[in-house]
Amino acid sequence: MSRTFVFFCLGLWRLVGVETDEMKSTEVMEGDSVTLHTDVTQIHSDDLILWTFGSKATHIARINRAREIFNNSANGRFRDRLQLDNQTGSLTITNTSTGHSGPYEVEIVTGNKISVKTFRVTVYASLSIPDITSYSPSNPSSSETPPSSRCVLLCSVMNVTRVTLSWYRGSELLSSISIPELNTTISLHLELEHEDNNTYSCVLNNPISHQARHLNISEFCHTTSCINYAHSFTEAVIRLVISVLVGVATIAVLVYDIRSRRV
Ligand SMILES: *[C@@H]1O[C@H](CO)[C@@H](O)[C@H](O)[C@H]1NC(C)=O
Ligand SMILES: *[C@@H]1O[C@H](CO)[C@@H](O)[C@H](O)[C@H]1NC(C)=O
Ligand SMILES: *[C@@H]1O[C@H](CO)[C@@H](O)[C@H](O)[C@H]1NC(C)=O
Ligand SMILES: *[C@@H]1O[C@H](CO)[C@@H](O)[C@H](O)[C@H]1NC(C)=O
Ligand SMILES: *[C@@H]1O[C@H](CO)[C@@H](O)[C@H](O)[C@H]1NC(C)=O
Ligand SMILES: *[C@@H]1O[C@H](CO)[C@@H](O)[C@H](O)[C@H]1NC(C)=O
Ligand SMILES: *[C@@H]1O[C@H](CO)[C@@H](O)[C@H](O)[C@H]1NC(C)=O
Repeated sequence: MSRTFVFFCLGLWRLVGVETDEMKSTEVMEGDSVTLHTDVTQIHSDDLILWTFGSKATHIARINRAREIFNNSANGRFRDRLQLDNQTGSLTITNTSTGHSGPYEVEIVTGNKISVKTFRVTVYASLSIPDITSYSPSNPSSSETPPSSRCVLLCSVMNVTRVTLSWYRGSELLSSISIPELNTTISLHLELEHEDNNTYSCVLNNPISHQARHLNISEFCHTTSCINYAHSFTEAVIRLVISVLVGVATIAVLVYDIRSRRV
């Protein structure tokens, strides 16, 4: 049977609809390897195995009698990262990056029987440790100035996607903010009394890993006044920029929220 004919059959068969297995989801950290299993114990010499990636079903790997790997497709995204098991047809992606996230599909043709398996791979970027800074309004004489018995802290992290940032008092969750799909900068406030003896930490996490920064209160909240109003002009500007970023992040979250409610 010619290859063209096989692909024609695949196309036709899609039109009439054929059962496919339930999609399998895999989550890994960038740099890890991930293996997508065909669940075939031994492929036969005349079997055809075809792997595709992404919503456009870009052809990335194939076994057709001789083991053959296309590793330069998808704009070089998979260059030297694909391994095909010639016994099972299972595909391994080594040294993953976030660009390898997405749907994968394998079509296995054995004689005139065809089966399709779909996979969803999510590759999470490694997380940095969030930063804690003391926060003060850019105009200290304004009525928004917090009472001097209070100490306001800001935990932030730059350029993150699909993460949650949280403040904890001991093991108790105080507040959190989630960024689902955007690569953005997020910040979260914490307001403390100066005499506070509790331990606080700011935690950044995704579904499979986390990074924590423990708060050293004495570093930020001094007995006289937490907020040092003698900040330089530069610091005031930085704080203004941070406030704007917080605003942007909030809008981003709102937009996402509205969208997901519509869905
Ligand atoms: C990539 O493909 C070339 C031929 O196109 C092959 O020689 C090489 O072994 C492949 N690399 C991997 C890691 O499979
Ligand atoms: C599978 O690949 C290994 C080496 O990569 C080779 O030695 C073996 O002969 C191959 N088996 C088949 C059935 O092609
Ligand atoms: C893994 O991929 C990154 C780029 O995404 C590259 O910089 C790094 O050298 C690779 N590591 C290995 C062990 O191949
Ligand atoms: C975040 O992205 C900006 C560019 O938008 C870059 O200047 C900055 O270095 C990045 N920060 C980190 C921590 O990756
Ligand atoms: C996020 O965006 C910044 C620039 O806007 C870029 O430098 C960074 O690599 C991006 N991070 C991810 C994980 O996409
Ligand atoms: C903080 O701890 C000290 C002793 O460790 C205690 O004397 C003080 O009352 C505590 N303050 C608060 C506000 O709990
Ligand atoms: C907390 O911060 C103070 C003031 O910067 C410093 O002297 C102290 O060593 C810090 N403690 C810890 C545990 O880092």
